[in-house]
Amino acid sequence: MSVPAALRWVEPPAGPAVELLDQTRLPAAEEFLTCTDVPQLVAAIGRLAVRGAPLLGMAGAYGVALAAFRADDVEAAAAAIAAARPTAVNLAVGVNRALTAWRAAELGDGATPRQGAAPGASAALAEARSIAAQEAESSAAMARHGLALVPDGARVLTHCNTGSLATAGEGTAFAVIRAAHRAGKLTRLWIDETRPLLQGARLTAWEAGRSGIPHSLLADGAAASLMASGQVDLVLTGADRIAADGSVANKIGTYGLAVLARHHRVPFVVVAPASTVDLGTPDGAAIPVEHRPAAELAIVAGQQVAPSGTEAYNPAFDVTPPSLVTAIVTERGVIQPVTPGSLRDLGAYMSLRTAS
Ligand code: MRU
Repeated sequence: MSVPAALRWVEPPAGPAVELLDQTRLPAAEEFLTCTDVPQLVAAIGRLAVRGAPLLGMAGAYGVALAAFRADDVEAAAAAIAAARPTAVNLAVGVNRALTAWRAAELGDGATPRQGAAPGASAALAEARSIAAQEAESSAAMARHGLALVPDGARVLTHCNTGSLATAGEGTAFAVIRAAHRAGKLTRLWIDETRPLLQGARLTAWEAGRSGIPHSLLADGAAASLMASGQVDLVLTGADRIAADGSVANKIGTYGLAVLARHHRVPFVVVAPASTVDLGTPDGAAIPVEHRPAAELAIVAGQQVAPSGTEAYNPAFDVTPPSLVTAIVTERGVIQPVTPGSLRDLGAYMSLRTAS
């Protein structure tokens, strides 16, 4: 059973609009959310109705196109979208790519506005579509490269959601998992529930079920004893931003898994497109980590589970140092060992992709 598209551009007369599969409602309901203006999209990003680094990049770019078609203040709209979530670098990259396309089409030589109906809007939309197509291609290439790292009969542990709900195509780490399943190499997928917002339990278990992948859910705190009992052969996660030194920001709990994997001698592999590599951020300390409201911990499925007013530490992401990362898989291939030098040539590749 396939998974519905997580994001779709709606043409006039029904649009212009950005239609999202509301991920906060899964798996209970498949509901679609139609954003007809940028404040609606910004709110949807903020409450994780749309999420996952590559998908956020696409949402950001389509958001700029939406502002342009509405003849809103495109520069202000772009700034608002880019600020909606700080850690996943794809969001700002997607916004900037669409904004750059819009500016070039609107201003031409920089002085003379171009003639014709909304040339900037069409250019921003074309750029958003190009980002979506590139992410789908990257997903397929990551699956091919990552498959080589999966041993026969593998029992793979994953965290958060990295499937088609988080990107175009089959995902990042989840695309490798699906490829391993198709190749008959996967014995079991272990899925961390991923507290506090349960992307593992709600989204990855749903996608795994629809893909026919044998899977078991575990509480995040059970990963240690699972690895100690020798039942994990490989950890595969995605990333929200990879700094120039190879530090990986990903969903909170990822760093703990990497420490556990090192202790138990289990390979810890990150799967992410080059669009998630941010060579402008020198190291892990420079990655902005989003902190989210205490209510996400204190209230579970509408039920108050901690005394009201309890303060909370609720970072949405953590940073894993490169020394704990066995390999990074991008659409360009496998980076191993993870060093600043091994990531550097992705910069030139990204510039080419952005310009094409
Ligand atoms: O807060 P989220 O759900 O947007 O966090 C998503 C993750 O941490 C994913 O692992 C990451 O974006 C990789 S997506 C392919």
